[in-house]
Amino acid sequence: MTEQRAEDIARFLAGLEADGYLSDPAWKQAFGAVPRHVFLPAFFLPLPDGRWQAIDASHPDYWANVYADTTLTTQLDGTVSPDPDSGPLSGTGTCSSTQPGLMALMLDALCLSGGERVLEIGTGTGYNAALLAHRLGSANVASVEVDPVVADLARQRLAVCGYRPTVITGDGEQGWPEGGPYDRIIATVSVPAVPPAWLAQVRDGGAIVVSLWRDLGGGPLVRLEVNAGSGQGFFLAEAGGFMPVRAVNRAAAALPTAVKQTGTTRPTRHPSHVLHHPDAGLWLALRVTGVTWLGFTPDGGNEQMWLFASDGSWAAVDDTAGQVEQYGPREVWDEIETVFDRWCDAGSPTRDRLGLTVTDTGAHRFWLDSPNAVVWDDAGARR
Ligand SMILES: C[S@@+](CC[C@H](N)C(=O)[O-])C[C@H]1O[C@@H](n2cnc3c(N)ncnc32)[C@H](O)[C@@H]1O
Repeated sequence: MTEQRAEDIARFLAGLEADGYLSDPAWKQAFGAVPRHVFLPAFFLPLPDGRWQAIDASHPDYWANVYADTTLTTQLDGTVSPDPDSGPLSGTGTCSSTQPGLMALMLDALCLSGGERVLEIGTGTGYNAALLAHRLGSANVASVEVDPVVADLARQRLAVCGYRPTVITGDGEQGWPEGGPYDRIIATVSVPAVPPAWLAQVRDGGAIVVSLWRDLGGGPLVRLEVNAGSGQGFFLAEAGGFMPVRAVNRAAAALPTAVKQTGTTRPTRHPSHVLHHPDAGLWLALRVTGVTWLGFTPDGGNEQMWLFASDGSWAAVDDTAGQVEQYGPREVWDEIETVFDRWCDAGSPTRDRLGLTVTDTGAHRFWLDSPNAVVWDDAGARR
């Protein structure tokens, strides 16, 4: 390793530590030992115009990006691999190496003491599986990846580093019963609802760490302790978002259609930035499902926030004018304001006071402070 590489890695570790991610010496050791670059020979960097440019180790920015606390996209639209010789590309990321700080936070939330058996969902590049194998031994780690090409590359790169966890090609929402029961499941791909199969495959007293997929974001990272096929626990204090499992149809922005329609206008009761409030944003994303948003400034007009529901309804919030225009059967901004009011009425709780119970039949119950104080039911079961 050159002196420059060693410096890059030392800076990377120091940054993660300074940001509070590597307080457990065992994870610090693992992050120092597993070479991220082996899992990322090439990746896509986002361009200012929304497209992507692939780079590899011949690019001057390669090393600084590999050893930085950033997510690096490694596949677009389920098929496109990074090729530095192709020009800028449009597309949606379908595989990535997760932001290392978020990985460290989730690994920490597993609360491992050593020797546990762990199932990872979403192998991706294999980097996270390598960290788990380094900490627990390859025999204790299994990882499921839906994309056979991605799974094969991960197996190869893990082997180059001397790790041989079991990498299964399949649908991670089914878990991998053959390898269970597990002490922990960690999902590095988000799911609209916690699959009953996972609850069935974790032994009593074990745990699942997962982020729930919501089109509005909100970073719903939750740690569920599993007992008798049910899971229960609090959302983490930190937000963490992942791409959804491939079966999810994401809500899409339909601006060209919407700008030709006329809705009903009324004064807003809350500004658009409530959506991005670190605590209220979690409630909003969990509760107002099938809705995505987009910032838009019409020529000569005020900045607006547009919300699009999957049934074609939309809302456009103009904070400068203090007005919202809404169209369609779902009055999306009404929904947002109602949930925000509810969060305020509950005393503006921090995100880690919200909890989730998932029953063995897959019902999702959201509660505040105590499982008896249910604030809403079943919102997690939507796709
Ligand atoms: C954010 S990446 C995972 C990052 C990875 N753990 C790493 O260290 O690089 C998400 C991965 O989940 C995979 N995926 C999507 N849907 C899946 C499913 N239903 N079952 C298993 N894997 C899935 C994607 O193909 C992608 O490789």
